[in-house]
Amino acid sequence: MAKAKTAYVCSECGASFNKWQGQCGECAAWNTLSEFVVEPAASAKGGAAPARHAGWAGRVDEARITSLASVSQAAEVRVSTGIGELDRVLGGGLVEGSVVLVGGDPGIGKSTLLTQALASIGQALPSLYVTGEESLGQIAGRAQRLGLPLDSLQALAETCIEKIIARCVEGGPRLIVADSIQTLWSEQLTAAPGSVSQVRESAARLVRFAKETGTSVLLVGHVTKEGGIAGPRVLEHMVDAVLYFEGESGSRFRVLRAFKNRFGAVNELGVFAMGDKGLREVPNPSAIFLSGAAANPGSAVMVTREGTRPLMVEVQALVDQSPLANPRRVALGLEQNRMAMLLAVLHRHGGVGVFDQDVFVNVVGGIRVQETAADLPVLLAVLSSLRDAPLPEKTVAFGEVGLSGEIRPVPNGEERLKEAATHGFRRAIVPKANAPKKNAFKGLEVIAVERLAEALEAAV
Ligand code: TYD
Ligand code: MG
Repeated sequence: MAKAKTAYVCSECGASFNKWQGQCGECAAWNTLSEFVVEPAASAKGGAAPARHAGWAGRVDEARITSLASVSQAAEVRVSTGIGELDRVLGGGLVEGSVVLVGGDPGIGKSTLLTQALASIGQALPSLYVTGEESLGQIAGRAQRLGLPLDSLQALAETCIEKIIARCVEGGPRLIVADSIQTLWSEQLTAAPGSVSQVRESAARLVRFAKETGTSVLLVGHVTKEGGIAGPRVLEHMVDAVLYFEGESGSRFRVLRAFKNRFGAVNELGVFAMGDKGLREVPNPSAIFLSGAAANPGSAVMVTREGTRPLMVEVQALVDQSPLANPRRVALGLEQNRMAMLLAVLHRHGGVGVFDQDVFVNVVGGIRVQETAADLPVLLAVLSSLRDAPLPEKTVAFGEVGLSGEIRPVPNGEERLKEAATHGFRRAIVPKANAPKKNAFKGLEVIAVERLAEALEAAV
């Protein structure tokens, strides 16, 4: 087969070169050149249009300017993966023709999760597991250990994207799992498999195949040390949804989080436990994240709302005299800068200074909290550790802390309070605007606060 015409394009300025070079000749940026297919190898049917224009060339005659009112809105077709927590993170099942990237550390359980999902979907929809990392024997062995029906699983051990697509065209699966995208490569590029150009080109092929045929594609992606999906950032833009599979080493709990989703809420969490029979769903995650949350100094319980359901999590702080001129500020599961800001507000508006103390804050269970409702519980945990006194028993808190020391409301206050009441909490320190008019939750005393100082007072 004739080689495709490729060029090395600078990601900074877009200049194109025939040969790879370390520095861009146009803008002088270093290491920004990567290989692109300019013109795919001529197919048997005779010269295809250049890749960059292939999508457009065919559609020039068809595309029309249209009033949105006359567009027929076919509801997206979703299939259940048979795993409730995975369906939840996807926004209610897998959308037909969508491409989903599942990222996570090695050994976290990506292959396990997708094998389990495939075995279930495979009953309803012809599905294919494409493996570039493990042999067919290993895949079959895992499926057997998991107790899955082997006859509903079809697998293909192949890494060349052209061959994979050819097999898919013949076999006609409606769902493809590609494990992993980093192992795939295209004949049309000379770059080594695993390189940025190969990963991008392979993903682009699969995305095009998915959109043209209505096949759903689940891509497995490795994660770099920094926590992003290895390979080009552009991968995240190409796909419809990006899910991260996370967990603490040593813990059997795993959290699946939607980072981007064109068909559902982001930050939606699905919780699993890894056992000897694979991944088991945890439909009531508040219970596991709270277990062992005794009233210790430095511990506070908050109700966060990641995605579409409230979740109770414990936040812990350790505040200790620092031997350093610049005391340490470490936040795990929270944004570091936000913590620095909160500590400044604590000093200015709460009258509590920690400038000579090391402050460590950790969200228990490997959860990452991205919403501002965590502000108040974080400060309560810090205060509790500083004073070496536990917060009153069965107390929860949530609320955003503003720079002028005001406690600002957060969305879905009632729902959070209901979750706290369900789990037997007796006191809730919440923003005034989030408190219900009359005390609606039996057994739960709602303490409405407007200023940080009031909240700190309520917590002793
Ligand atoms: P795997 O799905 O291969 O991870 P990934 O594809 O993300 O690299 O899972 C590997 C880990 O999961 C491995 O350490 C063993 C563990 N595991 C179980 O604990 N129970 C099981 O039933 C299976 C299949 C794996
Ligand atoms: Mg794997």
